[in-house]
Order: sequence, then C-alpha cells, then structure tokens
Amino acid sequence: MQKRENWGSKIGFIMAAAGSAVGLGNIWKFPFTAGDNGGGAFVLIYLVFVVFIGFSIMLTEFGVGRSKELAAVGAFKSVDRRWTFTGVLGVLSGFLIMGFYPVVGGWALAYVFKVVTGLLNNPALIGDSFNGFITNPGLPLIWMVLYLILNVVIVVKGISSGIEKAGKILMPLLFGILIIIAVRGLMLPGAMAGMEFLFKPDFSKVNGSVILAALGQAFFSLSLGMGCMITYGSYLSKKQNLVQNAAIVTAMDTSVALLAGIAMFPAMFAFGIAPTAGPGLVFVVVPTLFAEMGALGPVFALLFFIALTVAALTSSVSLLEVVVAFLIDEKKFTRKKAVFSSATIMALLCILASLSIGGLGPKLFGTGAFDIFDLLTDKIFLAIGGMLLCIFAGWRLKKKDLYDEITNNGTVKFGLFGVWYALVKYVIPVTIAIVAINGVREGFASGSGPIMVIGLVIIAIFAGISKKL
Ligand code: PFF
Repeated sequence: MQKRENWGSKIGFIMAAAGSAVGLGNIWKFPFTAGDNGGGAFVLIYLVFVVFIGFSIMLTEFGVGRSKELAAVGAFKSVDRRWTFTGVLGVLSGFLIMGFYPVVGGWALAYVFKVVTGLLNNPALIGDSFNGFITNPGLPLIWMVLYLILNVVIVVKGISSGIEKAGKILMPLLFGILIIIAVRGLMLPGAMAGMEFLFKPDFSKVNGSVILAALGQAFFSLSLGMGCMITYGSYLSKKQNLVQNAAIVTAMDTSVALLAGIAMFPAMFAFGIAPTAGPGLVFVVVPTLFAEMGALGPVFALLFFIALTVAALTSSVSLLEVVVAFLIDEKKFTRKKAVFSSATIMALLCILASLSIGGLGPKLFGTGAFDIFDLLTDKIFLAIGGMLLCIFAGWRLKKKDLYDEITNNGTVKFGLFGVWYALVKYVIPVTIAIVAINGVREGFASGSGPIMVIGLVIIAIFAGISKKL
C-alpha cells in the first residue's frame, strides 16, 4: 500500500477537523433549533449527548480511520464487505446535506454583499428583507451557485492548504466577533430573559421529538455519523494522541455553539424576536444588533458574515470530500470528474431545496425538499450511521486492536478505555435505537414521521444489497 499523506502538524489536523465541525450547524442551526425545541432542556440534553455519545463516536471514527488508513467506505469494506453499506450510507448523507447546506452558505455569502450595500441602514426592514430574499425564486440560486463554485475550486485542488490557512485566521476572528455580539447583546435591556430561556431547563417541554432533535444536532454539529471523521482520521499520523484530539475538537465545536446561543438569545429577547423565528435567526438578529452600533456596526457585521461564510466553507468542503473520496477510491473517477459530477447533482438538489423555501417545487407528505434533506440526514441517517459504526467497532473489530490503536500500542494513557468501550459496544447503540424509535413515533404528530420512516427503509434496503455496493 502506498504511504498515506499525513497532516503537516498537530495543529493542522485539529484546525481541519474543527473546521469541518464548526460551521453553519453551530452558528445558524443550533440557535434556531434550540429555539424551536423549547430552549434550556434541549440544550442540556444536547450537551449530555455531546459528552457521552459525540466524543465517543468521534474517537471511534478517528481510530477506525487511522487503523485502516482508508476513507469511510474503504475502511468498512476492508474489514467486511457486509459492512460496506454503512460507508455508502455516509456518502448518501454527504449528498443530501450538500443538497441544502450550500443554500444557506449562499445566504451567508449574499449577506457579505448586502452589508456592504447598506442592509444596516434601515434596521426595521432587516427581518422583511431576509424573508423576501430567501423566498425569492431566483436570487438565492445565484448565491448558492457561487458558493458551490468556491467549494469546487477548493476540492478540485485536493485538500487544500489555502482554506486551512484562511480558517486559521478566520475561526479565531469568528470566535472574537461572537464574543463581541454576546457582550453587546447581554447589555441590552431585557437580555437576561434570553439567558434564562437558553440555560434554565424546563423539562415539561421535553418529548421524543426534542430528544431526537438534540441527538441529531450533536451529530450534525460534530460532523459525525457519515464517515467524515473516519476520512480525516485516515490521514492522521500514528504518533498523535487520538483521545486528546477528539476531546479538543469536541470542546471547540461545543463552545462555538454555546457562544452562538449566548450571542443570539439575549439580543433576540431584547428585540422582541420570537425564539421560534426559525432559520432566519442569525440573519436577522446579527444585522439588527450591529445596526444599533453606529459607524462600527457595518464593519463588524461584514467581518461576521465573511467569517460565517468561511466557517461554512471549511465544513462543506469536508462534506464534498467524503463524496469525492468515495468516487475516486471506489469508482475510479479522476478527482476532477468526481468533483464536477457530484457538485452538479448537489446543485440540482440545492435548487429544489431553495425553491421549497418559497413554497415552490415538489413536496412529499406535505414537506418541501429543504426539510426533507434536513430531516433524513439530521434525524435519521447520521444517528443511525453512528449507531452502526458503534456496532461495527464493538462487535466486529477486536477489542485488543482498538486498544492498541487508541493508546498508540499502550504508549498513551487512556484510563477510561473500559468506559469508552462499554459505551460504544452497548450503551450508545441501545440509546440511539430508543431515541430514534421514540422520535419517529412522535414525528407522526408533527408530520415528519413518514419521511423518517422512508429514511429507515432506505437504510434497510442498503443493508440488504450491501454486498453489491
Ligand atoms: N459540522 C458541520 C456544521 O456544523 O456546520 C456540518 C457537517 C460537516 C456535517 C461535515 C457532517 C459532516 F460530515
């Protein structure tokens, strides 16, 4: 086997993995999902899932990837062909997430331009202007295509150093701006109600759908359950401490999500915007907040949307790379052909997703394309993908091999190995199964049940034809 290229440095790997994890999921999705699901209790459940399930699965993905030195599909296939479908399911998730992610990436890019052209001049119109923009059938498509082109350029060149360098500067910048927004927001009258909403759990709001949403959010935000971190782990040097890397990436991702929440909710409550305002949250709250800051406002808003676009890019290139790596490794495509063909399909999916926001395009059980892609991946494929990975690692791989991989042949101390192993082998698969079954059952009350069942059927079909994949 040819020697695998390694990440230049430890910090290079952490930046790339954290770059994949930190993205729209943290800054756009987390606040409005927390808002939709009642706040504090959702946040608490999400945190419990991050610590016990998210961290353990990230470590498992790094370990499997590094031990096999193969991207997701190859890693499963090299052990047992019957497991290939788990990797292929991840590729499908990559396609579907890329069927809506670039739509929102396009919004972020458009907002860079909108801030420059005077969005903040009339704060009262910011909310309407967002709704008008995303429901417009044409304009968001242009921005989506531009955003997708940026992805294509980066991924055609291979895992590029350019985007990593941009991330190294812009991720800390994003963090800094979020802190500024949070501090500003907290100073507004009535802001504390936002903190209470976000951190004071009200368990009467918890049901099966909320728990599944928290699980899905943990997976989506940490880039887990679809082989992305297996692929990244496959480039990791044998000397690196996997436990420490997984801990750092998980902690970074979670702190950005929490900070985004602290930046959004106090300001929202102060402005009288409802927590259930939905996907428009960051695009309305952030410009409104900066509009009140005088001359510096537009500068900060501009930096924010540039940083948000780059954070989105470092995530979407990792999604695209999962699909591209599969086409190159398993289907023998050239990199160029792999990137162009997959990006074309993604663009078509994104057109459907973008149109569905304005109520156009086909629907399934009353649900538009944007929500279908989100539901299938976030609520079903990622969580079940994570569950299958745990079953694979716990029941198909040897405990001794996992121990050697994770502790670098015993040279790294990992006192909690037994706990991690028990989580992966027993606790996580059972927990995910229970959460998914309850979530799907309750999904029938809100109309999302049929789509989730379709997701489960797709997985069953994949498993059935696994040897042909
Ligand atoms: N974690 C990314 C975010 O929070 O925006 C989204 C994502 C990237 C999900 C890569 C899954 C993945 F494999």
